[in-house]
Amino acid sequence: MTDITDLVDIENGRLAGDMFTDEDIYQQELEKVWKRAWCFLAHDSQIPSKGDFFQTYIGEDPVMVVRQKDGSVKAFLNQCRHRGMRICRVDSGKAKAFTCSFHGWSYDLDGKLKNIPRQADTYPADFDNDRYNAVAVPQLVNYKGFWFGTWDKDAPDREEYLGSAKYALDGYIDRWDEGMEVVSFNRWVLPNNWKFMAEQPTSDMQHSEITHVSAATVLNKASDATARTLRGENPTGRQFFSDYGHSRGCRTHQLTTPTTSRSQT
Ligand code: FES
Repeated sequence: MTDITDLVDIENGRLAGDMFTDEDIYQQELEKVWKRAWCFLAHDSQIPSKGDFFQTYIGEDPVMVVRQKDGSVKAFLNQCRHRGMRICRVDSGKAKAFTCSFHGWSYDLDGKLKNIPRQADTYPADFDNDRYNAVAVPQLVNYKGFWFGTWDKDAPDREEYLGSAKYALDGYIDRWDEGMEVVSFNRWVLPNNWKFMAEQPTSDMQHSEITHVSAATVLNKASDATARTLRGENPTGRQFFSDYGHSRGCRTHQLTTPTTSRSQT
């Protein structure tokens, strides 16, 4: 097993490149990070009414987040207990139940195995369907509309896990009196380690003035403050770290909501 002790020099802010390429380190991360961390799964506005579902991931595990008939929310591994295919093959939508497209096992909104085609003819009479319910995400909590889940039954309480990161999260969530809602989202498939993406908004704010210069050009039409920041004229900001690996970087200028569209200017 690769020992990361020599690869990370926290005191001097140095990180060996192997941290981003070593397959053994990645496998350790799946076990030690993704199997234990509280992960954001979905926002209330993505699953507003019964039967609404959204598919996401915890690490490499596909996870379904589903609004139940009673208004509660459940999450479970999107993997059929028969032979491992995806129970549901679309990213989001509304359903009354989920039927695996391989051999037709169907599951209720809460992941309970509901029906096996021709079960009486093909399975023993004492076959226990309850043993083959979808694997539930054991801990699931809602925080200001955001659903978080973890595979770890013994994970610390989510408030404890967040620690002082709660302040940074609240600063983002509570920014608008009207609250937040998801109106659309982008998904990228990137041919690199997950940490490349994670570090951008958390510890590498310097890249934005160069990498996003084209965005700055467009934003100049819509939001002077944002464009000025992206151009580096106001490069002030804050960097935040806390226990359990939370991190966030942010600009400190006043947020400006665009009031004019490009076509109007
Ligand atoms: S793999 Fe799902 S029904 Fe067979």
